[in-house]
Amino acid sequence: MSMPISRRQSLKLLGAGAVMTVTGCRSGSEGDPGVGSGVPADVPVGDETRAPAPGAVTLADQVADVRLSLWAEPSTAGIVAGTTTDVWSFGAEVLEGDPATVRPSGSYLGPTLHLRQGQRVRVSFENRLDEDSIVHWHGLHVPQDQDGQPPEVVGPGRTYEYDFVVVDRPGTRWYHPHPHARTGQQVYRGLAGLLVVHGEEPPSLTGMAELPLVLQDRRLGPDGTLSYIGSHHDMMAGFTGETLVTNGRADCTVEVERRPYRLRLLNGANSRTSLLSLSVGEPLTVIATDGNLLPKATEVPNLLLTPAQRADVWIDFSAYEPGQRVELLSADTFVESMAMMGGMGMGGGMGSDATTELDVRNQVAATFVIGDGTGDEERRPPDDLAPFAPDAVDPGQAVNTEPKTVALSTRQATHWINDLLWEGREVTEQETVTADTIELWEFVNYSPMAHPMHLHGRSFSVVERSWDDDTLASTWDTLVPGIIDEGLRDTVLVFPGQRVRIAVPFGGYEGYFLYHCHVLEHEDMGMMRSFRVVAG
Ligand code: C2O
Ligand code: CU
Ligand code: CU
Repeated sequence: MSMPISRRQSLKLLGAGAVMTVTGCRSGSEGDPGVGSGVPADVPVGDETRAPAPGAVTLADQVADVRLSLWAEPSTAGIVAGTTTDVWSFGAEVLEGDPATVRPSGSYLGPTLHLRQGQRVRVSFENRLDEDSIVHWHGLHVPQDQDGQPPEVVGPGRTYEYDFVVVDRPGTRWYHPHPHARTGQQVYRGLAGLLVVHGEEPPSLTGMAELPLVLQDRRLGPDGTLSYIGSHHDMMAGFTGETLVTNGRADCTVEVERRPYRLRLLNGANSRTSLLSLSVGEPLTVIATDGNLLPKATEVPNLLLTPAQRADVWIDFSAYEPGQRVELLSADTFVESMAMMGGMGMGGGMGSDATTELDVRNQVAATFVIGDGTGDEERRPPDDLAPFAPDAVDPGQAVNTEPKTVALSTRQATHWINDLLWEGREVTEQETVTADTIELWEFVNYSPMAHPMHLHGRSFSVVERSWDDDTLASTWDTLVPGIIDEGLRDTVLVFPGQRVRIAVPFGGYEGYFLYHCHVLEHEDMGMMRSFRVVAG
């Protein structure tokens, strides 16, 4: 059971942590305006073939508490070279503690927050937008009043004071707004940032070169103007933009050294579930999913990443020649299963053919340009993850043998969870769980589209996938090799007609938490519920 570790205990685990990171991508053209306000970008702009060394984030030797100021405000950014886009951005400043805690992203994205396991974090969030907002720390296990849920929103000009201890293991997480019905809009305008927890990690990963990659998509006018929802279909299907935007830039190009890197991938898109692969045809070596180390490095031919999911990928760029370009490719995977469309008012043809073709069309999400620089670290995938990886949640320890069914459906022009929509802190009996127990939940998808389902603050094990309607299974065949279910996750994709059984440890804090679809349009339409953790 994941009980919060005591601070003193965790402080002892931590030593100095030097972390090499490259923060940004460049569009490769002069005069890129970058971020219009807030902290200055630290990413050089100019000739893309110039060789910047990987920037270094060196955290203080001692884990000291940190106090930050964080704000959301209108700003401008250069997403496409030569244009300026009005965006909303997070900015942050360290008021007390290690200055390396906040690292500017170099784009409209919020700065990356580098936190430490065992650290007390105080954040004063100021809402400089003209609408309600609140910040959720996606993947952190914090008490209810620290979790940034819709009932906690603060209005324009108001602040929300956070004060929590980082109890989570080291890993890749993120933060984003969570006001009800406006999350899609706010994230789309630019409000999202990475949050990396540091602590004791396998020796093979310590001090590695790192490259965060935040994958998003946008609909951009020729002058760089962002547009969001244009039709009811954009809401029902979930919004996708035609332009892939990585680390805040279209045509994201990063120069890398000929050495192994840890890529910290975040799918920060509103709705697009991406199938990722490398242009060179090499498999991807995944070492962590949703901020949780895998028991062992896992090779996949391609990687399926849904909105909100993270994957840490180990990649050795010394395998390529200086000057070579290696592309990270991304294919949209959206399909509506026509067989399940009867009477759903989705628009589009009502086919009777159960097997809808998935058409895998790659776009370039990022280009790595191989530089001359090298490092002297080991050039084989890490084989020392197991002692540091969290244990799988044992379904045999669950308090229920029959899983609780969480039925996902689509009707009356919206998406439902067990025939219910968001009702704030109203919970059903099924949504009431006992602290420090493990429960089996089973998502069953009766809707014509896939839904990435997320639970706040609890990483769970995927116990089993099966088909409620196996005539639908073949549609997804091409995606199955890209799914990694071995490690703990906080977001899991459920295909139409599929049942996904998970074992959830409800350790830690009592109170109300959320579970919802992380297609932000679905969440905003009400495909979101609370669960309540009560004392046993
Ligand atoms: Cu990214 Cu309610 O979550
Ligand atoms: Cu969350
Ligand atoms: Cu959904």
